[in-house]
Amino acid sequence: MNSRVFSPTLTVDLGAIADNWRLLCGMTAPVKCGAVIKANAYGLGDTRVVQTLLRAGCREFFVAHVEEGATLKETLGTAWPRDASLHVLNGPDPGSESTCLAYGLTPVLNSRSQISRWQDLAYGKGRTLPAAIQVDTGMARLGLAEKPFAQLMAELDGLAGIAPTLIMSHLASAEEPDNPVNQLQLDRFRRLRQMLPQAKGCFANSSGIFLGTSYHFDLVRPGAALFGIAPVVGQPNPTQQVIRVQAQLIQWRCIASGEGVGYNHTWLAERPTRIGTVAIGYADGVLRSASNRARLRLGGFTVPLIGRVSMDTVTVDLTAVPENLLTAGTMLSVIYDEQGIDSLAQQAGTNAYEILTSLGSRFQRHYINDNG
Ligand SMILES: Cc1ncc(COP(=O)(O)O)c(C=O)c1O
Repeated sequence: MNSRVFSPTLTVDLGAIADNWRLLCGMTAPVKCGAVIKANAYGLGDTRVVQTLLRAGCREFFVAHVEEGATLKETLGTAWPRDASLHVLNGPDPGSESTCLAYGLTPVLNSRSQISRWQDLAYGKGRTLPAAIQVDTGMARLGLAEKPFAQLMAELDGLAGIAPTLIMSHLASAEEPDNPVNQLQLDRFRRLRQMLPQAKGCFANSSGIFLGTSYHFDLVRPGAALFGIAPVVGQPNPTQQVIRVQAQLIQWRCIASGEGVGYNHTWLAERPTRIGTVAIGYADGVLRSASNRARLRLGGFTVPLIGRVSMDTVTVDLTAVPENLLTAGTMLSVIYDEQGIDSLAQQAGTNAYEILTSLGSRFQRHYINDNG
């Protein structure tokens, strides 16, 4: 028995990821362009994505956790180039410093305690250890705020034992070019950078790259735009779409006018309606908030998702679709050219990051255009 017969399909276009990276490189050169590949490369598969980006020439990578970095390095083994770096954005958890060092990961140190634990390791090893230092310029999430950073820099042994590779910060609203917080953060970052001039500046995420060259410094670190997420709100998306999601029709039925569909009957038929049940649900990443909003595609027809999204299925209105197209196993598109991740996210009242990272583990994954 083929137990995966009704699994949804996720197609990841690795060539599009490489093209998106090259697009960003073209915008930032001669400033270097890295890649944020945390959370399993935003759910798309970090090993395949990193292999593709390495082939394209990327050498600076960022994960969130030591564990993610260690697993990735172990998987890639000797294929990991000596000149590539892998940064850990959240910094090492207490006790994970030696793992971080053993795997050659560069920690991003976000607090006094992360700094002093990395220093302890350096003193123990009798050598300086590389690390990036994060400053908080206005997001109030990770990094040393202006005052504590200035205090640290004023101390004689503030960063003793540490060879600072990057000074980093993160933008809170970069996808909104008119938001005054961008300039405010930029001004702070410029100020704080002067206190650590030997470290390279790393500030812009995907959207930050589109704010202009003054935001680029020495290294940019995009994630979203590599994976086809629109970098600027309200403007055409210059990146290529990276994923396609399809799912199979399980069965269909006709219901009479006045009958309800799905949990709590949030959709009531106003006319006799042909209802199709499709094998994908919120466990696979079609968020429940997309209920009665998203649209699927079948053989050139757009079919509205009606009723509540269930864990493993969604229901669609197939009334307009000729009956000869309807067989169990027929593929419907859920994420496709006209309904990319951004528009599905909008229908579900969230952002495309959440759509990508919610894609579940039940997909049959296909990687295409591997030669990048
Ligand atoms: C610290 C940091 N830098 C860079 C990125 C990449 O941002 P984006 O995916 O918007 O390009 C992230 C993502 O959340 C991040 O947390």
